[in-house]
Amino acid sequence: MSNNTVIIGAQWGDEGKGKLVDALTENVAAVVRFQGGHNAGHTLKIAGKKTVLHLIPSGILRDNIDCLIGNGVVLSLSALFEEIETLEQDNVEVRSKLKISGSCPLLLPYHVALDNAREHSLGTKSIGTTKRGIGPAYEDHVARRGLRVNDLLYPDILANKLAELARYHNFQLEHFYKVPAIPYEEALSMLMSYLEPMTPMIADVMALLADHRNKQHSLLFEGAQGALLDVNLGTYPYVTSSNTTSGAVATGTGFGPKYLDDIIGVAKAYITRVGSGPFPTELHDDTGLMLASRGGEFGATTGRPRRCGWFDVPLMRHSIQLNSLTHMAVTKIDVLDELETIKVCVGYEHNGKQLPCFPADINILEACTPIYESMPGWLCSTMGVTCIKDLPANARSFLNRLESLCGIPISIVSTGPDRIHTIFLD
Ligand code: GDP
Ligand code: IMO
Ligand code: MG
Repeated sequence: MSNNTVIIGAQWGDEGKGKLVDALTENVAAVVRFQGGHNAGHTLKIAGKKTVLHLIPSGILRDNIDCLIGNGVVLSLSALFEEIETLEQDNVEVRSKLKISGSCPLLLPYHVALDNAREHSLGTKSIGTTKRGIGPAYEDHVARRGLRVNDLLYPDILANKLAELARYHNFQLEHFYKVPAIPYEEALSMLMSYLEPMTPMIADVMALLADHRNKQHSLLFEGAQGALLDVNLGTYPYVTSSNTTSGAVATGTGFGPKYLDDIIGVAKAYITRVGSGPFPTELHDDTGLMLASRGGEFGATTGRPRRCGWFDVPLMRHSIQLNSLTHMAVTKIDVLDELETIKVCVGYEHNGKQLPCFPADINILEACTPIYESMPGWLCSTMGVTCIKDLPANARSFLNRLESLCGIPISIVSTGPDRIHTIFLD
């Protein structure tokens, strides 16, 4: 029987989605990205060899799998071809497996310049974006003035639309942000230089997915970022500019929500965040530094250090509700191996009162204090364990406690970065 699965980040991103998507692709016909852009950094490790993907779905290292980029993804052509060429240097076949929706909004050099200029002008109040132009690209899209991949196929129309956009954005760049304009001719020739290599990969992804469904193939939908970075449901304004929650699968691909079976939320055994914004369980002490160093917590896209803190149950329960998660995948449990005591946030206190759930108001979130439950660590290595019964008893108790606090089953436990460092429970 076919099974259509969504893998979504349940926290603030970098939960290990790429690793799990790669591990799960053995049994699917296609892997589909549905939102975000090259702000994502998804790390795969196979027999010790590391590959970092940004736009290309994490099924690309497998043979005979369609890798699809749905209409919800903002596409930088330069980033895409840089990624393709890097993979090809490693002898990975990409172009015959990759199909890109003609409806993807194009991310232009103007968007990158605007993202940089805005972050710079916000100073200490900056969002801490990846400066890839993601926000401005989505803005043009919802304002209905953006270019889409299919526009490349109509060079005259594209040239006219781009001229309008260049006029509009260059005015802002030059006169508001006081930074250099980007000549229209430069942007046009950059775009047109990708027409030939792009054309064979442009596809009707909606129709391809319908075809897979008719053939009862199993599909995997790969989320980028995490639920708390969702532009509507996350910790606004410290969010990305797309919907990162499971509802975006349907709007970002054209594959309706009722066709989905499992929705797996990936959560680290602790939690990290890159960029600004509230983070109630953040650790500013040696334990935080230890998690960062053992977990290698540096951004896969920007190399920035990630902020680290304890696992947050109210946040996870919120994420379960937003995404209708059917299962959790808990990653990086091995990073906790050397801790004598492990804490888990089980509630929040605000103005002397316990909050009933994760607060929707960011001002309350910023001011609340976590309530912790402590558990004994296991003080031995779990790195690379592939069978649940081989985990130490305290690690199993920790996972059981997370399951009962969060209220959904754990179906996967990740014990290391490599594809094989995985325990499948379901
Ligand atoms: P993604 O954006 O959700 O795909 O996650 P990233 O790739 O940005 O960050 C996850 C990091 O943790 C990467 O360096 C992975 O190689 C690594 N990783 C994933 N799962 C595990 C695990 O179970 N244990 C350890 N130690 N590292 C892991
Ligand atoms: P993956 O898919 C972690 C964060 C940025 C910033 C905010 C807005 O690897 O989990 P943007 O450039 O999107 O406008 O930045 O979102 N952010 C991520 N944080 N993992 C990611 O992706 C992220 N993509 C964006 O750090 O706080
Ligand atoms: Mg990442």
